[in-house]
Amino acid sequence: MRDAHRLAVLHGTSFHRGWSDNEFEQLLEERDTLTHRLRVARDIIGFIISRVAADEAEILSVAIDSAWRGKGLSRNLLRIHLGHLAGRGVRTVFLEVEENNVAAVRLYRGSGFRVVGRREQYYRDPNGEHLNALVMQRDLS
Ligand SMILES: CC(C)(COP(=O)(O)OP(=O)(O)OC[C@H]1O[C@@H](n2cnc3c(N)ncnc32)[C@H](O)[C@@H]1OP(=O)(O)O)[C@@H](O)C(=O)NCCC(=O)NCCS
Repeated sequence: MRDAHRLAVLHGTSFHRGWSDNEFEQLLEERDTLTHRLRVARDIIGFIISRVAADEAEILSVAIDSAWRGKGLSRNLLRIHLGHLAGRGVRTVFLEVEENNVAAVRLYRGSGFRVVGRREQYYRDPNGEHLNALVMQRDLS
């Protein structure tokens, strides 16, 4: 599936641990996931993907192509995505974000998410350093 490959490339250039084409293919096919792609002409330059369980959802990943960052595109993409989640009956959305990821934390805070937990040494960067995760939540109802 071409989209799965493009999403895997975008993800791989945005995160230390990439997800394979196969992992994306499976995610796109699963009925409990919701994906939005951001397109410019025919190219996908960003995506957001969540998993829905009853009235809760978890944002699994968000990425914007590095050439298109800092233009407010992720904020719009997230707003549209949250609207669709609400339309599917989701009332609470969770996510985990590395606490030093300034752009992502600003994106989420500015979109109404608040910190509800902190996971010590949750991620490991390529140098082996342990990084903390913030757990964030937003109520949609
Ligand atoms: C996080 C990411 C999706 C943000 O996408 P974006 O389209 O560039 O973000 P926006 O332009 O919509 O900006 C969102 C907020 O982050 C801020 N921001 C954007 N880039 C920033 C940077 N490099 N440093 C500091 N703040 C930054 C913006 O000012 C804005 O905050 P504000 O509204 O309070 O001013 C993008 O940087 C990305 O793909 N990063 C790699 C993947 C990633 O970390 N995903 C999130 C993992 S949970």
